[in-house]
Amino acid sequence: MNASAGLKMDVAATFSAAADTYEQSADAQRQIAGALAARIAATTLPQHPRILEIGCGTGFLSRELQPHFPNAAWLLTDISERMLTRCKAGFSGDARFMVMDGERPSCATEQFDLICASLSFQWFDDLETALERLSGLLAPGGHLMFATLATDSFREWRDAYPLARAYTSVETLRRFGDVDEERFTREYPDALTFLDHWRQIGAHLPRDGQRPLSPGALRRALRPFETGIAVTYHVAYGHIKR
Ligand SMILES: C[S@@+](CC[C@H](N)C(=O)[O-])C[C@H]1O[C@@H](n2cnc3c(N)ncnc32)[C@H](O)[C@@H]1O
Repeated sequence: MNASAGLKMDVAATFSAAADTYEQSADAQRQIAGALAARIAATTLPQHPRILEIGCGTGFLSRELQPHFPNAAWLLTDISERMLTRCKAGFSGDARFMVMDGERPSCATEQFDLICASLSFQWFDDLETALERLSGLLAPGGHLMFATLATDSFREWRDAYPLARAYTSVETLRRFGDVDEERFTREYPDALTFLDHWRQIGAHLPRDGQRPLSPGALRRALRPFETGIAVTYHVAYGHIKR
C-alpha cells in the first residue's frame, strides 16, 4: 500500500469512529451545509437532475436539498462506510449509496447535473486535480458546487500547533470558477474542549503522515489557550459551471 492510500484509510477510519457523535457536535458544519444548500436551491437544475454528493457524511446537505429536488436521481458517497450508513438511515427517498474516494471517483462513466460537497474537499491530497476530474463528470450545463475551508481557518490554533492542516486559498479556487467567502468564529472555554470537539466530529487527524505531538509539546501548544480559544472558520463557497 502506498503512503497516500494509507492516509486515506486513516481518514476513513477516523470519520467512521466519529459517525455516532458527529451530528451532536457539528453545529458549524450544519450551518455551512445549510448555507451551501441555500445556494444550490437557488440554482436552476433540470426536472430530473442527476446529483452526486462527495463526502456526504451523516447527511446534513442531502437532507436539506432533498425537498428542493424531489425528482432527483441521487448518488450519495463518502470514503467512510459508517458515515454513509448514517446518511442512508436519515435520507428519505430513493438514492444510491457508495463508499468512494471523491478524488478517484469510481462512477466516472456517469454524468451529473449537480456535483456537491460540503466540507469534504479539505481532506483531499490534491484538490486542484480533483476539481478538474470532477468537472469532467458534469453534464453540459452542469454545476459543481461546494463549501471548503480556506486559508485563514483555525489560524489561531495553527499559530500554536505545528501539526494543524493548511487549507487552499480562495485565489487558487478562483482559477476554477466563482468563489464567495465567509468568516465566522466559534469560542471554546479552553483548547482541550476544542480538541475534544474535533475528536467528536472526526477532524482531529494531524497533517498528512505526521506523528502526534509528545505530551510535553502538546501541553506547551495548549498553554496560551488555558482561559479560552476563539477560532476562525474561513469558508469558501465555490461554483464551477460546465
Ligand atoms: C467534516 S465531514 C462533512 C460531512 C458532511 N458533508 C457535512 O456537511 O456534515 C467530512 C466528510 O468527508 C469525508 N471524506 C474525507 N475524505 C474524503 C474523500 N477523499 N472522499 C470522500 N469523502 C471524504 C469524511 O468521511 C466525512 O464524512
